[in-house]
Amino acid sequence: MRLSHVLSEHRLLRLRPVCTMLGKSVLRLLGRTGASRLSLLEDFGPRYYSSGSLSARDDARDARAYFTTPIFYVNAAPHIGHLYSALLADALSRHRRLRGPSTAATRFSTGTDEHGLKIQQAAATAGLAPTELCDRVSKHFQQLFQEAGISCTDFIRTTEARHRVAVQHFWGVLKSRGLLYKGVYEGWYCASDECFLPEAKVTRQLGPLGDSFPVSLESGHPVSWTKEENYIFRLSQFREPLQRWLRGNPQAITPEPFHHVVLQWLDEELPDLSVSRRSSHLHWGIPVPGDDSQTIYVWLDALVNYLTVIGYPNAEFKSWWPATSHIIGKDILKFHAIYWPAFLLGAGMSPPQRIYVHSHWTVCGQKMSKSLGNVVDPRTCLNRYTVDGFRYFLLRQGVPNWDCDYYDEKVVKLLNSELADALGGLLNRCTAKRINPSETYPAFCTTCFPSEPGLVGPSVRAQAEDYALVSSVATLPKQVADHYDNFQIYKALEAVSSCVRQTNGFVQRHAPWKLNWESPVDAPWLGTVLHVALECLRVFGTLLQPVTPSLADKLLSRLGVSASERNLGELYFLPRFYGHPCPFEGRRLGPETGLLFPRLDPSRTWLVKAHRT
Ligand code: MSP
Repeated sequence: MRLSHVLSEHRLLRLRPVCTMLGKSVLRLLGRTGASRLSLLEDFGPRYYSSGSLSARDDARDARAYFTTPIFYVNAAPHIGHLYSALLADALSRHRRLRGPSTAATRFSTGTDEHGLKIQQAAATAGLAPTELCDRVSKHFQQLFQEAGISCTDFIRTTEARHRVAVQHFWGVLKSRGLLYKGVYEGWYCASDECFLPEAKVTRQLGPLGDSFPVSLESGHPVSWTKEENYIFRLSQFREPLQRWLRGNPQAITPEPFHHVVLQWLDEELPDLSVSRRSSHLHWGIPVPGDDSQTIYVWLDALVNYLTVIGYPNAEFKSWWPATSHIIGKDILKFHAIYWPAFLLGAGMSPPQRIYVHSHWTVCGQKMSKSLGNVVDPRTCLNRYTVDGFRYFLLRQGVPNWDCDYYDEKVVKLLNSELADALGGLLNRCTAKRINPSETYPAFCTTCFPSEPGLVGPSVRAQAEDYALVSSVATLPKQVADHYDNFQIYKALEAVSSCVRQTNGFVQRHAPWKLNWESPVDAPWLGTVLHVALECLRVFGTLLQPVTPSLADKLLSRLGVSASERNLGELYFLPRFYGHPCPFEGRRLGPETGLLFPRLDPSRTWLVKAHRT
């Protein structure tokens, strides 16, 4: 049985960002008021073995899949929040590749966002030319992603020539469709957030000398008053098309509460948007075609990266668009769910298929920031906790619907308990020489473990809980796939972890160390207990590949599972139980006997903490 799964000329314009329309529930969801947990837990009642196909349905529908991370600002070195964004996208694309018929059908892009006032100012502050700063920090991101096993197929930098071509072409399309006009923008601009702010979203903050200066109410970043003639995009024309798109595609923005937030924003007025700045003010960017006195707004520039990567404006991009899944943080939802789809619709293209939104990491209850000195360095974490360990931690503890707090003790506790003790211990228990002297995948005895629960007989040894285990593990790949589809990777890992516990319980219950290979009564059952446990481990190893690739490889290699036997489409759990031959039965285990995940010493967490003040 197979287990497979968004004024006219020279008129004064006050551009009101969508965030002024936030209601209380919206603010709560975006994490700007007290914490509220929106649980989306589904109930997975006990089920016996079901043979849902993991790949057939979706792979026929989505022949191609294109995953993207946001492109990262190069004003500062990467932190764990950036790594988290990239890991979510990495896990989604790895999971897709495990399901898909060929890896060529999946693309995964990331990169760096190098233009705009923020970068121009950061370079000036550092006394560097903008290109120098961009080269330096972009390299940090590339190194980090390489070390963390981010399996991107493309890394884009917005300072590349191919990107300039794409952005200027896209601008030309919007212009030719009558969607750009010249107008005067007057209002607040926040360079750190690269966005326009209405008066209501600006407050004053006291400086060290008792003087006060205007800051963004939301981010606390300084804002400055701007009045200039810009090009304006007719965003207001897109309110209804955006509403139709979202209402017709209830899964477009996931998790659902974020979809709801965007629809709420769209219930309000949607003002036109300034999409250029005077080049005398902003020179670090892409010039407006045919008007060198203006530089294209960095968000329009940045969003087009998703098209540049797939070859836009050459026709080849059409085979990847709109089969796109954008992975983004909640702070940039408005740009991706309103501005971007509106630009695309304006250019005669479809909005992206999916937008997956995640919340943020805080450190000891506070927002990470350079000024607070609490930025957690991801490279230190990867060294300390291992690449697989830290990947597992961020994806297992990170919950898209609400912010998560980071502290070192949590990492050690989780990894020791779930990877070292539970999973590593289980593997060790079933492969150790003293319990499995032949170092093979033992045979499954259908008489000891009949496919029909409740049978009685002298050789029947399986109990009701054992059937429950088989049912749990049999339905696990489908459950995991559904959790990936709902962008709840932590729930997928929770489900795996729960099955690992159940399997440990199974081994504990039948205590194979008390059974004797020499006894004709014990031997078939002993083999069966080990066989079932190894089959469960094979499923866990296969399902953990997108999150802990090296650890999963180690586990599957130890079980003797070859590279071609690790796809979800080929995952047949416990075939002997269903009357089919098992290719692993009698196979020699892999030679690598080392610990799957060595326990971490809790006393060694101080080094990561040392980065805090
Ligand atoms: N350059 C823009 C994105 C342009 S995409 C066309 C940008 N860059 S960013 O570097 O500020 O943020 C990149 C991603 O990191 C965003 O998804 C953001 O939500 C995420 N994170 C930034 N801080 C974070 C945490 N503390 N926690 C989790 N993710 C966080 O926005």
